[in-house]
Amino acid sequence: SIPIYTTVAAYREWRRKAFQEHKTVGFVATMGALHDGHISLVKRSLTENDLTVVSIFVNPAQFAPHEDLATYPRTLPQDLDVLSAQSFTVSSRSAEGSVVRKTSAVFLPTVPEMYPSGISQDTVMQKGTFVEVKGYGHQMEGQSRPTFFRGVATVVTKLFNAIEPTTAYFGQKDIQQALILKRLSKDLLLSHPDPDHIKIVPTARDPMTELALSSRNAYLTKEGHKVAPTLREALKAAQTAWEQGATKAECVAKAIEVIEHTKARVASEGTEVLMRLDYVELNNSDDFEIIDAQSRKSEASLSPVILSGALWVDKTRLIDNIILGDA
Ligand code: PAJ
Repeated sequence: SIPIYTTVAAYREWRRKAFQEHKTVGFVATMGALHDGHISLVKRSLTENDLTVVSIFVNPAQFAPHEDLATYPRTLPQDLDVLSAQSFTVSSRSAEGSVVRKTSAVFLPTVPEMYPSGISQDTVMQKGTFVEVKGYGHQMEGQSRPTFFRGVATVVTKLFNAIEPTTAYFGQKDIQQALILKRLSKDLLLSHPDPDHIKIVPTARDPMTELALSSRNAYLTKEGHKVAPTLREALKAAQTAWEQGATKAECVAKAIEVIEHTKARVASEGTEVLMRLDYVELNNSDDFEIIDAQSRKSEASLSPVILSGALWVDKTRLIDNIILGDA
């Protein structure tokens, strides 16, 4: 079975050996409740690194007091089974023939291990050291979750310091998170990993419905599951409009139309499910600034545009995004 390290000190002994042997260490940070999205990150790491470390830690600092910290799905035994089942075979030129790579270590710290000064979910009460990537955490997801990226930046800095990966993998599903972490690595002059060794892996989706896989999908009822793919459909409709030269305002209107259409259908069927669009936006990928309502593909900035949205289905908040092709 995979070695599990619950303290930084124990993990560091293992890491020292990897340094001595000049092994590359890929890292996948998770909050557990692993699904095929997490696994796609693990697979990518297995193919590109000698060793792969996965962390499982439900980070209190990134949950607001009213959010779902207490009920966040925790499925540790299954998570460890899922990780054990993943392997990648590397054909080697040496006499031993091929080598099978599996997750080398799981980092499973306690809350006090990660927060030696303690952690309160009330940001006013917090004491200790926090990391803030200023100017990039208040738009898009940060608009609805103002303290979220501070919690993410703080825990990932700690994880990077503890794990010392050569490369780290993050999902496009959380595109703003991944880009903020690249900036964090750049601004803090990190070497493990440096910004170029933070890789963004495409969003893994349900093959039938294209619903973005997420640990929070576990909260959805049967009816909720049926309407959840509407967010993806809405973003795709907006993408098509954008590619055809529509303005941002028209693209957003298209997305809202798709959501409203499903809402009306659900209501007419008498299905017990609540849908509420949180936002659909188009933002520059370099600074997350909102694209002007009247701008269109040909007039947008040279950096890619992120089309993103969040949809409430009952009490579950779902997110998704599409990176729109070069302007
Ligand atoms: P979590 O939601 O568990 O996600 C862990 C990693 O898996 C993140 O990089 C996320 O973007 C990626 N991921 C989730 N769903 C995905 C999907 N459908 N396709 C591809 N990648 C996917 O994100 C976090 O945890 C936390 O904020 C964390 C970075 C661990 C810090 O606490």
